[in-house]
Amino acid sequence: MSSAPSEVFNDTTAPVALRGDLLDFIDTPAWGAVDSPAVRFRPDHWLLIRGGRICGVQAEPPQGHWTLQDHRGRLIMPGFVDTHVHMPQLDVIASYGTELLDWLNTYTFPAETRFADPGRSRAGAELFCDALLANGTTSAVVFATAHKVSADALFTAARQRGMRLITGKVLQDRHSPDGLRDDVVQAERDCIDLIDRWHGTDRLSYAVTVRFAPTSSPEQLAMAGALCAADATLYMQTHVAENRAEVEWVKQLFPQARSYLDVYARNHLLHARSVLAHGIWIDDADRAALQRSGAQIAHSPSSNLFLGSGLFDWRAAGDAGVAVSLASDVGGGTSLSPFRTMGDAYKVQAMAGQRLTAWCALHAATLGSAKALRLDHEIGSLEVGRMADVCVWDWAADPVAHRRMEVARGLHERAFAWMTLADDRNLVQAWVAGALRHQRAGV
Ligand code: GUN
Ligand code: ZN
Repeated sequence: MSSAPSEVFNDTTAPVALRGDLLDFIDTPAWGAVDSPAVRFRPDHWLLIRGGRICGVQAEPPQGHWTLQDHRGRLIMPGFVDTHVHMPQLDVIASYGTELLDWLNTYTFPAETRFADPGRSRAGAELFCDALLANGTTSAVVFATAHKVSADALFTAARQRGMRLITGKVLQDRHSPDGLRDDVVQAERDCIDLIDRWHGTDRLSYAVTVRFAPTSSPEQLAMAGALCAADATLYMQTHVAENRAEVEWVKQLFPQARSYLDVYARNHLLHARSVLAHGIWIDDADRAALQRSGAQIAHSPSSNLFLGSGLFDWRAAGDAGVAVSLASDVGGGTSLSPFRTMGDAYKVQAMAGQRLTAWCALHAATLGSAKALRLDHEIGSLEVGRMADVCVWDWAADPVAHRRMEVARGLHERAFAWMTLADDRNLVQAWVAGALRHQRAGV
């Protein structure tokens, strides 16, 4: 059974206790360390949930009026965070044969124009939120489309499911087809209206959403920067330095900027709540600017491989003190599964002779993202007081994975094999703010 949002799982007040192997992070794991003090593993513990929050963790079953759920032998983790993904692009996932700029013009822009229709936006937003939950992703930073109605639909769908979600109407007033271009005046009005309505409502936040530098005029970039400057609690999301042809185009369009990233920096778009997807073709000065600003790179390895964009240098970013989170970037990326994202991240680093530990990957997809989004007081760990965004996982979902788990020695080996082999079949339950929002059939 896959859950529908407003059906039977809405009681966030009934106290629930989940028994299983609890895995989360209390710090940032060092690069390459398979034995890490940042990892917190509490085998066979009870996670206590009341009023939508984690209210206790203990080895003994709780006394009193608790609904007890025994998941012995299963893994319990904080819900995953996807820091860069496009709601309308489920319609173009797995499209053949193009690099970024052709991919946008051939597949993506035409698909996104359809989201002017409120019905398409509503259906797309609901499918998208349910698909995130079915993959164990309970929080996300998401692109809607240029249409205000698409952002409204996404906020509405996330709110119905109690999700922590950050999104915004896409700003793009040039180099885009009819039906997908906005203009500075109307776009500003739409943003202000959406911010008034949604920013800080329940678990929702607004992100000033610049598609990427080539599709915004200098006037629109200035307007976006002014919105950010007026309210430091707003997020900003965009793409940067993803593809070499794109980087060349930005050079021609903004000859005065030192680099692609500098286009954003000059427009007050680089700050502690900025989420920049990709960042493959950046240099040391860019990394220093990212570090100073507190902005994060949403590393999107599945997309980078699929669109042939390039290999992100995670090690250089980390050494420069830049926060790196993990993202699916669907539909450039080919899966909403955090496991495919982490698996592809491992392979990208392997191509550069680096080794991404399960700890670095799992941390980046949970507590690391939460910290980079300044949301670690709310999500990303199994700490008492955090919102109960929690997933229950099987360690193995098929005979090959079962065999691999039988012979795994030590926690890192087990966690790495799990991370590499798991998918949505491993997900037993997804809890959001203490409500059961997704449950595997037959559980
Ligand atoms: N750059 C501008 N728009 C997009 C998009 O939709 N996806 C990706 N991957 N890169 C972009
Ligand atoms: Zn993207």
